[in-house]
Amino acid sequence: MGSKTGILLAGSFVVWVAAIAASTTVATGSTVQKTTNDGVYTKAQADGAKKQFDKMCADCHPFTVEARKKPKDIPLGDEPFFDTWSDRPLSELVTLITLTMPNDGSATVNDAEAMDLVAYVLQQNGMPTGPNPLSKDSTSATIVRPKK
Ligand code: HEC
Repeated sequence: MGSKTGILLAGSFVVWVAAIAASTTVATGSTVQKTTNDGVYTKAQADGAKKQFDKMCADCHPFTVEARKKPKDIPLGDEPFFDTWSDRPLSELVTLITLTMPNDGSATVNDAEAMDLVAYVLQQNGMPTGPNPLSKDSTSATIVRPKK
C-alpha cells in the first residue's frame, strides 16, 4: 500500500467517524425519549378496548398480583410486570400481543387492536392520558412505573 492510499484511507475514516458522530447527536439531541408517563394514549382508546380485554385477556391477566384468580395468572401490572418491562419500548409489548396472545389460540389480535389493548393496560396501571391515541408513531415510548 503506497503512502498516498494510506492517507486517503485515513481521511475517509475521519469523515466516516465524523458522520456517525453527527448522526448520533441528531438522534439523541433533538427529541427526548418519551415514556408511558408522557400521555401516550387517550381515555377513549382505553375505554374502547375494555370490552375486548375482558373477553379475550382478563381470564389470564389481572392487573395486580393480589387480583390473581389462579396461581398461573400473569398480572399486567405491579412488580412482576414492571420488573420485566421497565425501560422497554411499548412496541415490544404490541408485538408480543399480536404474535402470541391470547396464548390459547382462541383468537388473533392485529396491530391496531393490540395498541388499543396496550392503552387499556396503561390506563389500568394509572398512566396519564394524552391528546393522541397510541399509534405506531408513539409505541417507541418506553415503559416506566407510573408516577404515584
Ligand atoms: C389462556 C390464558 C391467556 C390469555 C387468554 C391471554 N394471555 Fe397473555 N399471557 C399468558 C401467559 C401464560 C403468558 C406468559 C408468557 C407466555 O406463555 O407466552 C402471557 C403473557 C402476556 C404478556 C407479557 C406479560 C409479561 O409480564 O411478560 C402480555 C403483555 C400479555 N400476555 C397480554 C395479553 C393480552 C393483551 C391478551 C388478550 C388479547 C392475552 N394476553 C390473553 C396467558 C394468556
